[in-house]
Amino acid sequence: MSADCLDVVVVGSCMTDLVSQAPRLPKAGETIHGHKFFIGFGGKGANQCIQAARMGARTAMVCKVGKDFFGDNYIQNFKNNCVSTELVKQTDEAATGAASIIVNDAGENAIVIVAGANMLLGDEDLQHAWPVLSRAKVLVCQLEISPDTSLQALRMAQQRHVKTIFNAAPAIPDLSADFYKASDIFCCNETEAELFTGSAVSTVEDAGRVGLELLKRGCGSVIITLGPQGCVVVQSADATPVHVPTSKVTPVDTTGAGDSFIGALAFYIACCPELSLVEMAKRANLVAAISVQSVGTQTSYPHRGDLPAELF
Ligand SMILES: Nc1ncnc2c1ncn2[C@@H]1O[C@H](COP(=O)(O)OP(=O)(O)O)[C@@H](O)[C@H]1O
Ligand SMILES: *[C@@H]1O[C@H](CO)[C@@H](O)[C@H](O)[C@H]1NC(C)=O
Repeated sequence: MSADCLDVVVVGSCMTDLVSQAPRLPKAGETIHGHKFFIGFGGKGANQCIQAARMGARTAMVCKVGKDFFGDNYIQNFKNNCVSTELVKQTDEAATGAASIIVNDAGENAIVIVAGANMLLGDEDLQHAWPVLSRAKVLVCQLEISPDTSLQALRMAQQRHVKTIFNAAPAIPDLSADFYKASDIFCCNETEAELFTGSAVSTVEDAGRVGLELLKRGCGSVIITLGPQGCVVVQSADATPVHVPTSKVTPVDTTGAGDSFIGALAFYIACCPELSLVEMAKRANLVAAISVQSVGTQTSYPHRGDLPAELF
């Protein structure tokens, strides 16, 4: 990979999902039999990177996995999706991040996440990534790694005028004002927007109001995703927030829809910069709407060839 040819760099998380389906969730100390088990690739950072790569962006992932079976497998998964793994480090100090998920017949779940190696991604890794990061078109960060590492990556990118997309997920209370200032585009879902502002987001109008509040904290623009209602884009304190609806579909599995949206958005910002942000959000909605119509997380993310030509 030559360092000057990247569209999207993601500094973020990788997680292996270990999913067991059982009639019900076990009680403390209990062993029960389930009827299905599968392993899936997840982690918000990796999901977003893979969606951007499947759309055709030249991508690299900056992350840390364990020197273990799951780490080896994840690296292969990136390779299979044409994501550069030059900046994926393996550590023997922690295991690859894992999410043990139990799903009952009612569709409810119980999840234990062990972030593991993700939390060891730090300054040294970012310094190592600098030649690639500083020449990329877009950097995407989330909050599934150490927040300090995300903030440092965003600041490094801004220093070089690399566009920053910050997906403030999963939300942390009292998110430092520095994150807003380091975000060209600040993205979150309605639950996260509520947590950051303390105001309820139940309508499109609420999302517009809360989006303006977030914008005033110092980011370039704000996008709040609203599930089947698409998203709201807020670009200026004096302009009306724009509601961008999406197509009506029958959802099968909405896991990772937000990551599909962010990955697609990163692709458009890097590869179709002539489009308006509202047009990019409209197209990212359509990509994410496809992802909710089949099961799994990355398994449901469309490839460029599966998408209508009008999206490019
Ligand atoms: N039921 C749905 N129908 C169509 N699009 C959906 C649906 N659910 C999610 N999406 C798409 O995925 C995006 C992210 O979904 P959302 O539920 O807001 O995020 P998260 O995955 O963070 O909960 C939405 O903006 C929309 O484009
Ligand atoms: C918003 O995203 C968080 C994860 O970051 C998730 O737990 C929550 O359910 C999402 N909210 C909605 C309304 O989808």
